[in-house]
Amino acid sequence: MNEKKTILSGIKPSGDLTLGSYIGALKNWVELSDQYDCYYMMADMHAITVRQNPAELRRRTLAQLAQYIACGLDPQKNTIFIQSHVPAHAELSWVLACYTMFGELSRMTQFKDKSAKNADNINAGLFTYPVLMAADILIYQADLVPVGEDQKQHVELTRDIAQRFNGVYGDVFKMPEPFIPKTGARIMSLQEPQNKMSKSEQDSGGCVCIMDKPEDIMRAFKRAVTDCETCVRFDPAAKPGVSNLMQIYSVCTGRSFDAIESEFAGRGYGDFKLAVGEAVVETMRPIREEAERLLKDKAYLESVYADGAKRASYVAGRTVSKVYKKVGFVPKSAL
Ligand code: TRP
Repeated sequence: MNEKKTILSGIKPSGDLTLGSYIGALKNWVELSDQYDCYYMMADMHAITVRQNPAELRRRTLAQLAQYIACGLDPQKNTIFIQSHVPAHAELSWVLACYTMFGELSRMTQFKDKSAKNADNINAGLFTYPVLMAADILIYQADLVPVGEDQKQHVELTRDIAQRFNGVYGDVFKMPEPFIPKTGARIMSLQEPQNKMSKSEQDSGGCVCIMDKPEDIMRAFKRAVTDCETCVRFDPAAKPGVSNLMQIYSVCTGRSFDAIESEFAGRGYGDFKLAVGEAVVETMRPIREEAERLLKDKAYLESVYADGAKRASYVAGRTVSKVYKKVGFVPKSAL
């Protein structure tokens, strides 16, 4: 009997993984992988809700896998897979769509934001995105879903869908909880510290990627926006830029905010920004090097995602069979 609780999370390969993905997601995923039975995926099906270049999507999906492993996710301990390799997600998504209201989906803030940003491509996939996400979560009977603040509404909708379905058919789905990490949950843009560091806005200089070269990382930190006070002090409301840099520095060095304030007392922002840049370079270096090495080993990566898809499909298939039976589909013949 497996007593460990189950975790599912994913990142869509719509952009290269950033320092924000590392601090806000991957680093926490690694910490959770001892205590929980973890499923971590590359959400490529979610990525195509926005138009993607096929070759780039393929490249980023594999690069993302290499970076998951390089960050410390052990493919033996965790089930790491590519979403499109487990067709049961799409199957469950269809059924769940029939238990999700048009009005509920219309109220999703991410849908409203993304439709505003992609006014020329407000496709049905963008609208039903949260249903596929509900399928991702419910199909593994996940207890916890580590997500950023921006995805909390989707996990809440997942609960509503599960509750509605369970209300009709009995206890089919486990009720998942969003799990929002306390520290470093939101790494902000280095250029616009009011906004989240975003992998879809990589040209602005506000974003640092895990695979970036040291000189590019240093340049981004040297140019980071601060304020005119010249005092390293943690105050996210009044000093969003400096506070964000402190947050990053704290994660990379393990130092507390108090220790950082004393370290830079009486020193200018120039020194501080250099120190943060260097700390990030040293934190990313082993990850980048290991990811580069893994990317050359296509056979190994293939064995990881093949094994992950096999394990995930087994669990996911069981949920789909149960759901199909509940809604009244004729069971497939064993012949
Ligand atoms: N929507 C998530 C994001 O943009 C990615 C995602 C897809 C996800 N399916 C998921 C996250 C299931 C958690 C659980 O970040």
